[in-house]
Amino acid sequence: MQDLTGVEILLGVCGGIAAYKAAALTSLLIKSGAGVTVLMTEAATELVAPKTFEALSGRPVATSLWKSNSAHPHIDLARKADLFCIAPATANIIAKAACGIADDLMSSTVLAFDKQIFMAPAMNTVMWEKPATQRNIQRLVEDGVVIIGPDDGRLSCGESGPGRMVSPETIAETIAKFR
Ligand SMILES: Cc1cc2nc3c(=O)[nH]c(=O)nc-3n(C[C@H](O)[C@H](O)[C@H](O)COP(=O)(O)O)c2cc1C
Repeated sequence: MQDLTGVEILLGVCGGIAAYKAAALTSLLIKSGAGVTVLMTEAATELVAPKTFEALSGRPVATSLWKSNSAHPHIDLARKADLFCIAPATANIIAKAACGIADDLMSSTVLAFDKQIFMAPAMNTVMWEKPATQRNIQRLVEDGVVIIGPDDGRLSCGESGPGRMVSPETIAETIAKFR
């Protein structure tokens, strides 16, 4: 297991079916010694209950720019974390981040974040191979975002190919190398 003692991680969970794997990732990061604050998109909350992440992280889960105890939730989240890992990263957040769009808590926090950002894409193979997605990934790499994966394999839609989110262990290992 990686040693992430004392590292403050902001974990962004987007609306991909692999959101359930982010629960295992939260647990692994906590066991590795990190403090984890989870930020979910509205779509992610349709797939996994925020309570799951609240229980695993021991902290409130951020889901909205507007329904928050903080006056500037995107700025507060960005200031407090040492790194920002988005897993799963949907085609949507990849596109928004590549363009600098900030129309919800996740994308606003990406734009407000000035330390290392990691993204673990997860989507259907056609979505992953679409020229628009590949252009967006290329732009994010040029902007300094570390893209982890995706793996090639069986997808929840029943097809096989590139688009599976990498394992929580691979994400934790990648983060640990950047300490
Ligand atoms: C059951 C289900 C699973 C989905 N899985 C994915 C996925 O794995 N990857 C992806 O990019 N979009 C997926 N989508 C589509 C996204 O949820 C949709 O693009 C949404 O707008 C993403 O919002 P977000 O990026 O704010 O989370 C899925 C949608 C549904 C209904």
